[in-house]
Amino acid sequence: MYERLQRCLGSVREKTDFVPEVGIILGSGLGDFAEEIQVEKRVPYEEIEGFPVSTVAGHKGQFVFGYVGKTPIVAMQGRVHFYEGYTMQEVVLPTRLMGLLGIKKLVLTNAAGGVNTAFQAGDFMMLTDHIAFAVPSPLIGKNLEELGTRFPDMSNVYDKDLQEVIRKVAKECDVAIQEGVYMQFTGPAYETPAEVKLSRILGADAVGMSTACEAVAAKHMGLQVCGISCITNMAAGILPQKLDHKEVQETADRVAKDFKKLVTKLLEE
Ligand code: 6GU
Repeated sequence: MYERLQRCLGSVREKTDFVPEVGIILGSGLGDFAEEIQVEKRVPYEEIEGFPVSTVAGHKGQFVFGYVGKTPIVAMQGRVHFYEGYTMQEVVLPTRLMGLLGIKKLVLTNAAGGVNTAFQAGDFMMLTDHIAFAVPSPLIGKNLEELGTRFPDMSNVYDKDLQEVIRKVAKECDVAIQEGVYMQFTGPAYETPAEVKLSRILGADAVGMSTACEAVAAKHMGLQVCGISCITNMAAGILPQKLDHKEVQETADRVAKDFKKLVTKLLEE
């Protein structure tokens, strides 16, 4: 896996020598944020040798290198998910690649289902922690010593200083933001009402199909991590209606403007 990572790194470095300081993974429906970047270079995933390419419609699939304010960043427009059939090691390869490209901080974003009954569709939630044991760890297998230690500490996955920056910029741009614990499930089916209830009893405020694995891989490498969920819908069993991927897209579109504002300011800071 380390050789595959090095091959990907070589592939990207043939196309650009841009060194980003911050990486951001754009969740489903949130990819439009890339419009806010002063673009230096776009690198489609399919041009990177050994890179896992997404199969989901609407996931664009490219790295966008450039500036937000004065901050050099790399954005991932589209990510791969475990439910597509990739191994967890493959799912976190892009995160690790961004680490090798030079990022020190990672912003994870996603569309998530609300579990906390005080939430509603359209809310943002800053991640304070996660629950990742419903999915395999991306660190299973031979430890990549070049990246990090065998038994990494996960006491503070979501960096306290970055959490404080998120609170501050949310206030400054007048965007309300909830806080809570994200629980990763495999998908692709949405959870049953009983699973949603279980996640709430365990302490989850939102459920999704990504992010926690990437946070673990990033923390393993020593990156500072933060995360923002867009609560696109309430999880199963909370409201009378059925779940529908269309609602996920519609809510993400509805809050896109606030999301762009919030994330732009965050990356500038
Ligand atoms: Cl309800 N569950 C999961 N796992 N992911 C989601 C979701 C629900 N809503 C948006 N993404």
